[in-house]
Amino acid sequence: MLAYRLIERKRDGGRIEAGEWRALAHAYAAGHVPDYQMAALLMAVYFRGMDRGEIRALTEAMIGSGGMLDLSHLTVPRIDKHSTGGVGDKVSLVLAPLIASLGVAVPMMSGRGLGHTGGTLDKLEAIPGMRTDLSLADARSQVEAIGCALMGQTSEIAPADRKMYALRDATATVESIPLIAASIMSKKLAEGLTGLVLDVKRGSGAFLPDVEQGLELARTMIALGADHGCPTVALVTAMDRPLGRACGNALETEEAIYTLKGEGPPDLLEVTYALGAEMLVLGGTVRSLEDARRQMKAAIASGSAAQKFAEIIEAQGGNPGVVEDPAVLPQAEACELYESPQSGIVATVKPRAIGRGIIALGGGRSRMDDVIDPTVGFVITAKPGDWVDAGEPLATVFARNADGIRAGRAALAEAIMVSEEAEPPLTLVSHRVSDRGVTTYAAT
Ligand code: URA
Repeated sequence: MLAYRLIERKRDGGRIEAGEWRALAHAYAAGHVPDYQMAALLMAVYFRGMDRGEIRALTEAMIGSGGMLDLSHLTVPRIDKHSTGGVGDKVSLVLAPLIASLGVAVPMMSGRGLGHTGGTLDKLEAIPGMRTDLSLADARSQVEAIGCALMGQTSEIAPADRKMYALRDATATVESIPLIAASIMSKKLAEGLTGLVLDVKRGSGAFLPDVEQGLELARTMIALGADHGCPTVALVTAMDRPLGRACGNALETEEAIYTLKGEGPPDLLEVTYALGAEMLVLGGTVRSLEDARRQMKAAIASGSAAQKFAEIIEAQGGNPGVVEDPAVLPQAEACELYESPQSGIVATVKPRAIGRGIIALGGGRSRMDDVIDPTVGFVITAKPGDWVDAGEPLATVFARNADGIRAGRAALAEAIMVSEEAEPPLTLVSHRVSDRGVTTYAAT
């Protein structure tokens, strides 16, 4: 009866009170509200929206439907980063050990790839033996011992969100800013953080391509962070082309390891340093963004960031030897160069076409229960704006067999346009958003 009245009220433009969201989230997590009623309510929210008080109440109700990662006894700051997702985005694999190596605890909860975007858990699980299904108790002792845990959303964290997100995915109600903000922040705030940095992607490969929508999402999440005493800052970064060169799970893990050892592509390093500097400043362990960058560069140069990644991998059952020798990662059966069909300027490397190409190769999911092949994907050396000659290699396809090579080549042909003229690509890091408003990002 409760659900019916709430659907009716939301449908007619009314609001749902905090106690009602709480009761609903508990009842839904416990299986007492059927999916068809929750789906109707979510659709009503999709069309009618929610005010700030409702978004806050829904976030709290979803946090309260499960447990918290209690790290309040730690004396060090606890900072995480969240990305709205993209193609080639392996920043978390570099950033988490890098920041943990500098004395800030990083309890990082990540997701799996779905649709054209990749997921950190799939990239980590390319490492032989690596487990990401940590319980809250495992995650707590690992963060205490080595300052970082890289985990998935356990059934203990925000179970109401877990069920609702799966339902939204099946009922075309994902693309609602209040629902996205409440969903992401319920999981992040359940990690008991002292600060959070958001990487909000913009451009054709982003979940919300339009910058205004990205800024609205950032503002909504920052307000939720402030309501819960978790200072939150967002950077808006470009996803009109893949980040770095590698796209595909094991290939991206390999690139992340090389980046931790100081041999990363410049765009990946820049986004990592920009986000990492915000994390260190929020953690209060550095004097300025410039000081933060100096410390991160030193941690990479000294090998301490790579060493921290090896410790995390070992703690989670993986083979830490992968950091010394990335050839330990599973390797694709077949690979082939893809050359430019003509001379000209690289006008596009379309991330959605690349993401769909990875799915076609068997390395991504179109349904949550699909099994993926970690070895397949692309290494794309061409970047928008580059001049290339006819016959020059633009990318390499990694596949299971000759059919895969053909599918990969077709994806590259759709993604990479070489022409006489090209629009300039989006600025890599364009905006900074905090509780004080939006500013143009000034590189440090
Ligand atoms: N990621 C989430 O965790 N939730 C959403 O609603 C969208 C993206």
